Amino acid sequence: MTPEYRVGHGLDSHRLVPGRPLLIGGVTVPGSPRGPEAHSDGDVLLHAVADALLSCFALGDIGKIFPPSDPAHAGLDSRVIVAAVLQRVRARAPGAVLVNVAAVVTLDAPKLGPLRENVAQSVAGLLGLAPEDVGLTFKTSEGLAPDHVQASVTLLAIVV
Ligand code: C5P
Ligand code: MG
Repeated sequence: MTPEYRVGHGLDSHRLVPGRPLLIGGVTVPGSPRGPEAHSDGDVLLHAVADALLSCFALGDIGKIFPPSDPAHAGLDSRVIVAAVLQRVRARAPGAVLVNVAAVVTLDAPKLGPLRENVAQSVAGLLGLAPEDVGLTFKTSEGLAPDHVQASVTLLAIVV
């Protein structure tokens, strides 16, 4: 049978504020003086991954599953969000196999390059992929958005 190819896309942004840990793909960025102002842990990469997975299977978005207004979700670990989304994907499309993830993280500072392998391994582990299947592009905003962290994620799945 010909496999069905499906693409998903997700985007997430948060404001950076002092005194919060900066999490990217489940990895804490060491030495960052600022982190995301957020209801959950504010991990933009995992939020964008979760939304890309939901978008891939037309399952809505994170807010539909974890309403930000629900106090039970305060400080939520974004790895829990990804796990919950994967469960929904499996229920909707039991034959779905994720092929690869392509992510762009925009952050002026600190540099994320030294963490590339760690982040790829962390994201791959959550998704049942190999680190080689998680492409990570790091960009600055060229000073245009110094208080901003953003992730954009595209992924491909096949359904057999
Ligand atoms: O945004 P710009 O193209 O000037 O970034 C130059 C390079 O700096 C990127 O290609 C990436 O390798 C690196 N970078 C990084 N961490 C960031 C932003 C950029 O490692 N937070
Ligand atoms: Mg978010």
